[in-house]
Amino acid sequence: MEGITDPVFRRLVSRTGGVAALCSEFLRISVSPVPERICRRHLAVTDAGDDGLRQVRLPTAIQLMAAGCEHVPESAAHAECAGADWIDLNFGCPAPVVFGKCAGSALLALPERMSAIVRAARSGTTLPVTAKIRAGITDERLLEENLLALAEAGAAAVTIHARLRIQGYHQPASWHWIAQGVRVLRAAGYRLPVVGNGGVERADQVAEMRRLTGCDAVMVGRAVLADPFLFRVAAGGPAPDRREAAEWPMRYYEAEAAAHGGSRALAKLKQQLCWYRAGDLFADGEAQRKMLLRARSASEILSWLVAAGVSRPRASCD
Ligand SMILES: Cc1cc2nc3c(=O)[nH]c(=O)nc-3n(C[C@H](O)[C@H](O)[C@H](O)COP(=O)(O)O)c2cc1C
Repeated sequence: MEGITDPVFRRLVSRTGGVAALCSEFLRISVSPVPERICRRHLAVTDAGDDGLRQVRLPTAIQLMAAGCEHVPESAAHAECAGADWIDLNFGCPAPVVFGKCAGSALLALPERMSAIVRAARSGTTLPVTAKIRAGITDERLLEENLLALAEAGAAAVTIHARLRIQGYHQPASWHWIAQGVRVLRAAGYRLPVVGNGGVERADQVAEMRRLTGCDAVMVGRAVLADPFLFRVAAGGPAPDRREAAEWPMRYYEAEAAAHGGSRALAKLKQQLCWYRAGDLFADGEAQRKMLLRARSASEILSWLVAAGVSRPRASCD
């Protein structure tokens, strides 16, 4: 998620368990191809003291975003050289700055251009090329046409974010659009995997989305910021106890500090704590969270987390 996640976060989540694959934030193609070194940066973390994070290397995509075909083959080739396992194309971003440049979700109105971009990416790489879409811009009228255009262009898989562009991120996701996508592609004889996305907030909803829509896999966005253990629990693993939940942000801080230095690590730690709800650390109310977000130093936050990890949550008195 652009502006929020990074390779350090992805590696740490992948070590927590239950994750099948990872995808970078979108890398925008504008006046020149995305350089190989930028792709490398999104795929890797530094070696420095990151506690073996490198040992886990799940399949990872570089996501590209373009308004047209120019520089797409070269960018895909650079992503391949940098070590990506596949290339994902973003046709879902709703941000006005992206939409206004006819990229991201703006392409949902232009199925032919979307399929040309998929073909362009495929021409530059031997890797699989996948696509991520929303159900539409203001309505879902082109959903079927878009999916068939992507399949026809040779997309290896498609992720459907079950919201319209005008719904942003906060309106409820409509999973029936994922089910519709699965039906349309299968009826046309396409077997490419469909990944469902949108509105998964709890581990049990991963299986629920698969059951209700028939999708082949589930992509989770924001909920993993709140609970990095969601994938592990969805895969049948244990929920974290309070100590493990308190340790996670500390490990994240340490890994960020080793990779990028203390001030960025502090900013990322605070960003994480804005969302965090694993282990009910803030079950006593939001005052503690607000206090931590005002902290001037990481040590203030880390000491609170150490104490929170060993203390018991207060029993509720209803
Ligand atoms: C701040 C922010 C940045 C995002 N950046 C990306 C991105 O770079 N690429 C992408 O495919 N989706 C991006 N997304 C969308 C999420 O991946 C996901 O599709 C969306 O949040 C819906 O899933 P969710 O309800 O599980 O969060 C972003 C979402 C947010 C909130």
